[in-house]
Amino acid sequence: MVYTTDRVFTETGIFVEVVIVPDSAAGGELIAEAMADLLRRKPDALLGVATGSTPLPIYEALAAKVAAKEVDASRARICQLDEYVGLPAGHPESYRSVVLREVVEPLGLNQDSFMGPDGAAEDVAAACAAYDRALAEAGGVDLQLLGIGTDGHIGFNEPCSSLASRTRIKTLTQQTRVDNARFFDGDIEQVPHHVITQGIGTILEARHLVLLATGEAKADAVALAVEGPLSALVPASALQLHPHATVVVDESAASGLKLAGYFRATYAAKPDWQGI
Ligand code: PGA
Repeated sequence: MVYTTDRVFTETGIFVEVVIVPDSAAGGELIAEAMADLLRRKPDALLGVATGSTPLPIYEALAAKVAAKEVDASRARICQLDEYVGLPAGHPESYRSVVLREVVEPLGLNQDSFMGPDGAAEDVAAACAAYDRALAEAGGVDLQLLGIGTDGHIGFNEPCSSLASRTRIKTLTQQTRVDNARFFDGDIEQVPHHVITQGIGTILEARHLVLLATGEAKADAVALAVEGPLSALVPASALQLHPHATVVVDESAASGLKLAGYFRATYAAKPDWQGI
């Protein structure tokens, strides 16, 4: 059983759509189906992908659909949300490597269909501007996947990021470096201090934003993002500005939502609901 808000709210842009699923596998399946549906309508859709642990069930479910020939992803285009600055080329934890390994290869795409910011550029500011231009020239992002940090970040837009920001270099908070040390043998010293991230203004230009959050550690950030005031202190609250933003949460990540019962009741009244 999944639950969602009433579409009327999302179509008027005054409330993000919230879907409560039993677990991360169900969230992955729901979002993979939305991506597959998009690819059936637009085979060369530009899909913005996110890194971290949370989206892995999405990529597994989408790869399974491709393998089962439920969808043809051969013309899909993929773009990165963010990238570490200063990791040597080919470092296994560079987000380029991660996206190649977790998305591009399992979907059988070639590397030409994949774009991301150049974290090794000498002129980082120019690389950021070039990435924003490249996204626009590619026709814009059709569906952007997002995770959420325990501090409310989206991409690497840490608290106090401008809600109108463009792709730029950012300094990671200590909390995010602690959270990400698990990808670097648990050694925070190996986690870069700087990143390139799509800005919040850049992210908001995607046609559909889909944020997946699982686990209790995300509950406070999810509640603030969805039900709290629009605030640069909680970058994910910027989703409230978007006309088609969907937040998919498991029961644990939903546990801080005051309106969880409302979200469930609204879905229960819409048994014909077809997806996000
Ligand atoms: P996680 O990261 O999925 O690994 O928790 C989410 C994020 O930082 O955006």
